[in-house]
Amino acid sequence: MSSEPERMRKVCVVGASGKLGQYMVQHCLDRGYEVVGVCRERSVGKLAALADRITIVPGDTNDPEVIRRAVAGCEGVLTVLVPWGMRQYSSGTAQAVLDHAAPDARLVFSCGWHVRRDARDRYSWKFRTLVLTITKLARVLRLLDVNDQLEAARRIFAADRRWTLVRGSDLEEGKSQGLPVWSRHVGDPVLAGNMTRRVDFALFMVEALTDDTLVHEAPAIVGRLTTGALAHTDDC
Ligand SMILES: NC(=O)c1ccc[n+]([C@@H]2O[C@H](COP(=O)([O-])OP(=O)(O)OC[C@H]3O[C@@H](n4cnc5c(N)ncnc54)[C@H](OP(=O)(O)O)[C@@H]3O)[C@@H](O)[C@H]2O)c1
Repeated sequence: MSSEPERMRKVCVVGASGKLGQYMVQHCLDRGYEVVGVCRERSVGKLAALADRITIVPGDTNDPEVIRRAVAGCEGVLTVLVPWGMRQYSSGTAQAVLDHAAPDARLVFSCGWHVRRDARDRYSWKFRTLVLTITKLARVLRLLDVNDQLEAARRIFAADRRWTLVRGSDLEEGKSQGLPVWSRHVGDPVLAGNMTRRVDFALFMVEALTDDTLVHEAPAIVGRLTTGALAHTDDC
């Protein structure tokens, strides 16, 4: 990826208390960035170990006023998009970031492979059935609104901002294996392994802040040591 421009000094992590968020905070601190983390009030305690190293802005991530305060002065914003509940949480979060981040800020969002970028994304019947089942079941239980994450993506793709939407494979915990590999299209053989370490998903998100080749891309990522990645890339 490209070398780090000087402009990335202060980064906001929206959804900092979750698993992906905490890894992203740590990667940002490792790079010497000043970090502002946004998380729900009830989750502030999850950031206790980092509390003296970052600024925490408590509040719902879809609250425009919370986001406006948190992203002030940030050159980069890393946003965990999650479709929890039936109150447009994902699209509201994305919209608040798109509306309030500085005009030239790098905006990097997370989601899963189920978000389609274009017609060249190819899904197996098994994957489609799984997503459909989860979407319907979660909707009936009013737990998750997967369609709202798709709406969030639609708004990001349409935005005249410096965005990247990182689409994650299935995730697992474990030690870093290095920067994931990526493809523009779900269904590419390089992605066949369908597994990424969460710490490396976070690494990709943070690296994307300073990689302008990823602006206006929706990379589908996979762990660099998966069989597909090893078979189809030269540098793994
Ligand atoms: N899990 C997977 O297998 C998978 C696969 C592909 C892509 N992804 C993507 O990876 C990213 C991280 O996902 P993750 O599953 O690993 O989760 P995660 O990092 O633990 O993050 C979950 C986030 O959801 C928030 N949250 C939990 N319950 C909530 C509620 N009821 N209302 C509002 N916010 C709530 C958490 O905030 P609190 O800390 O406040 O609870 C946290 O910020 C997401 O963008 C997801 O789409 C995940």
